[in-house]
Amino acid sequence: MPIDLFSRLIHNYDELKFALLHAQTFDEQHFGFPELYYEIMESDRQRVGAFQRAFAHCDFQDKVVCEAGVGRLMLTQYYLPSVRKAYLIENNPKLFPLIKNWLRERNLESKVELLFTDARTVQLPEPVDYVIGEMMSIFCANEFQVQVFKHLRQYLRPGGQLLPKRIINLVQLAQAEFPEGTTHYPINFTRHLPEQLSGQEVVNTIDLMEVEKETVEFSLPMQALLSGSVNAVLLRSFVEIVPGINFTGTDSLMPPTVLRLAHTVEVEAGNTYKLEGEFSYGTSLDQAQFTLRR
Ligand SMILES: C[S@@+](CC[C@H](N)C(=O)[O-])C[C@H]1O[C@@H](n2cnc3c(N)ncnc32)[C@H](O)[C@@H]1O
Repeated sequence: MPIDLFSRLIHNYDELKFALLHAQTFDEQHFGFPELYYEIMESDRQRVGAFQRAFAHCDFQDKVVCEAGVGRLMLTQYYLPSVRKAYLIENNPKLFPLIKNWLRERNLESKVELLFTDARTVQLPEPVDYVIGEMMSIFCANEFQVQVFKHLRQYLRPGGQLLPKRIINLVQLAQAEFPEGTTHYPINFTRHLPEQLSGQEVVNTIDLMEVEKETVEFSLPMQALLSGSVNAVLLRSFVEIVPGINFTGTDSLMPPTVLRLAHTVEVEAGNTYKLEGEFSYGTSLDQAQFTLRR
């Protein structure tokens, strides 16, 4: 048992409260994430394992696949040997040499077409059986999952599949401490969870095959289970990769995330309030507006 490691962690809990937010820093140009974030994502057995299990439900034999945002090919490695052809898209230039070498070393170049470009506008030369893409973020607010799948789904053959398929966004009333200048932060350690004053409610479900609107406006009754001051909401996103294989958020992807409300509202246990909000996919959670009303 690495007691020293655990003890160092315990002594640094407070300092680490915003470490995940910084590691996930959103890059407007989408030239990728810091290397550390790739390491966080790739070492998460829960995230990678969910996709691996979903791939095991698919028949890739002799199929054509398009994967958007391949990163360092962490997910790609599990289906690429089986497919006939793959269009692999990535727009982080720092990764191009790594991707090329990886394919060359495994003799997989002949079945792959590399598209180092933006997956929101790329043109594919033929229809595909599967579109795969893990470009998610809580509520799909910071990443282009929705925009990319809206564009790529036109290339799906009849009966073709998107992986993931659906994303369910959930919200809970909360009270949290926000340092100056912070509007949201992801939870890395459960001690940094806010006080939660209601149960979870569904804000919306994103069906990636159907979604059109990129701005979501909602109004939701929320019953307080406990009395207190609500100044925040706790957001969660549940992902259905294929029916029966899900991913419900960890520190590496869609961690429960605390978002500041426009105003603080005192709530009383048993009473129902109205949570109104607006957010847009592929922008920034900093721009989301959530307000609680009596
Ligand atoms: C969350 S990472 C996932 C990487 C890899 N698929 C994995 O699961 O480990 C998303 C990747 O998508 C890339 N990306 C983001 N937006 C993109 C876009 N519009 N076009 C192409 N690639 C994009 C990022 O550079 C990043 O490498």
